[in-house]
Amino acid sequence: MSYKIAVLKGDGIGPDVVDCTIGVLNKVAAEHGTVFEYTEGLIGGIAIDETGVPLPGDTLDICKRSDAVLLGAVGGAVGGSKWDNPDGSLRPEAGLLAIRKELGLFANLRPAVIYPALKEASPLKPEIVGEGIDILVVRELTGGIYFGEKHTEEDFAYDQMKYSTHEVRRIAHVAFKAAMKRNKKVTSVDKANVLDVSRFWRKVVVDVAKEYPEVELVHMYVDNAAMQLIKDPHQFDVIVTGNMFGDILSDEAAMITGSIGMLASASLAEGTLGLYEPVHGSAPDIAGKDIANPIATILSSAMMLRYSLDMPEAADDIEAAVTKVLADGYRTADIAKEGDKVVGTARMGELIKKYL
Ligand code: IPM
Ligand code: MG
Repeated sequence: MSYKIAVLKGDGIGPDVVDCTIGVLNKVAAEHGTVFEYTEGLIGGIAIDETGVPLPGDTLDICKRSDAVLLGAVGGAVGGSKWDNPDGSLRPEAGLLAIRKELGLFANLRPAVIYPALKEASPLKPEIVGEGIDILVVRELTGGIYFGEKHTEEDFAYDQMKYSTHEVRRIAHVAFKAAMKRNKKVTSVDKANVLDVSRFWRKVVVDVAKEYPEVELVHMYVDNAAMQLIKDPHQFDVIVTGNMFGDILSDEAAMITGSIGMLASASLAEGTLGLYEPVHGSAPDIAGKDIANPIATILSSAMMLRYSLDMPEAADDIEAAVTKVLADGYRTADIAKEGDKVVGTARMGELIKKYL
């Protein structure tokens, strides 16, 4: 058995964390009698430098011919970079939006998990964190205001927020199916007190919920959801929401874990194709220094094994190895505190391989 994996390292620390992850994947493949064939493609700022566009057609072809896509990070420094461009379609981030749309990656899964060994990293009070936090944000990724009609005139501009029955139904199904395997609760987040599109969203979600009578469905306005995440994160199991609310709430959920270097994500299409990437950005200030935390990407590769390559045991192995490495006190600098054994990117990868 062999699988084709498209490898898009991207910018900043992307190559650091992806190289490290490939080492782990190769070990796992050998142990499970599988071979992974990797094909590299360009995306983001490096693609702009080398080809003039953030998502070259070649890259898209490679992805379409693959079973899964592993992505590092795209973009330059947040404070400004050589890729800042008044034409939004020529920014590195446009590569990410285009690949989502072109591959039909409508379902974005962003688990926000606090590992027991990293509980103190959360900025929330210990009594709020309790024994840990485990929330799955399911964000609609190819519709809504991100992809509505946009228009700019001299003295006004607009972006349209639109959802169809089909788009809401399919993301709602993803959320309810995930909840069935977890704690059987879905919180659908919208702004139905103001927006037509949200009232429509709610109606469709209620309809889909009828197919999952065991799952509790709660509706919440997005402003309240932002508060509730901090006030009492334990009330959430699966959060399902549209593209922009999901963008914002998934960052908030990531922050309350306190360890963004640990968080994985999957973006899934209707079949088995998926794109897997860490939640963190490209951190150009630490690129190439062997200090970036590779765990988010390694955990993303575990999601890849589970959702696209049908290798759930291999995914479990990786997750167990990560848990054990942390329990033994090994940390990259971003998550280290007094007394921890601080290691670099490559060494962290070696340790996870050893613990597999
Ligand atoms: C994310 C990012 C992207 C988004 C940006 C980089 C376009 O914030 O993946 O959450 O807004 O979707
Ligand atoms: Mg975001």
